[in-house]
Amino acid sequence: MKPGEFELPFKKGDLLPLDYKSVWEAMEECQNLGLAKLIGVEMNPVWQQKTLREFCEKKGIHITAYSPLGAKGTSWGTNWVMDSQELNDIAIAKGKTTAQICIRWVYEQGVSVVVKSFNKQRMEENLDIFEWSLSPEECEKISQIPQRKGLRADIFISNESPFKSRFELWDEEV
Ligand SMILES: NC(=O)c1ccc[n+]([C@@H]2O[C@H](COP(=O)([O-])OP(=O)(O)OC[C@H]3O[C@@H](n4cnc5c(N)ncnc54)[C@H](OP(=O)(O)O)[C@@H]3O)[C@@H](O)[C@H]2O)c1
Repeated sequence: MKPGEFELPFKKGDLLPLDYKSVWEAMEECQNLGLAKLIGVEMNPVWQQKTLREFCEKKGIHITAYSPLGAKGTSWGTNWVMDSQELNDIAIAKGKTTAQICIRWVYEQGVSVVVKSFNKQRMEENLDIFEWSLSPEECEKISQIPQRKGLRADIFISNESPFKSRFELWDEEV
């Protein structure tokens, strides 16, 4: 955005071009300087980002699932992960909670998980994901969950913005 204060929804004309390469290089510099332990990108079960994950795997870029439960209850999150019918069905059949199915799935993808709870019982629940696993059928079911991005990047695309089409902004997963 142009420097200064702005309110949401922002004015499209206030968007500035984004130089992804320089941003990533600056993040690498932060890591080299010891300002960040690790740098990476984010995912969750309703935004699995398969294309991006394959790219990251090839490049050795680590992935972290921040807000893996979809940040339910926040002003910018959604209920889509916790209300997912597929995750709920697996949870009931397996005697686990939807959150546990979600966190275990993320863990099985080989990525880091940053889940948050202020509730002691839910913290314990969220940690209890290591002594069991998902079956191949359950993993297949999760891979078929219809994909929805919480904050769609379409809001950045317009004739007044530096991004005239979605492909000028990112790949097909916007
Ligand atoms: N660096 C980044 O770019 C970035 C981006 C996003 C998020 N983050 C960080 O990642 C962490 C997690 O993200 P988040 O808090 O946005 O989202 P989240 O972990 O997906 O969801 C947290 C919400 O889920 C609830 N919850 C937690 N465990 C639950 C369970 N077992 N059953 C039912 N509800 C449960 C929490 O409520 P209760 O507290 O009441 O349990 C809270 O409302 C945070 O520390 C956040 O700051 C970082």
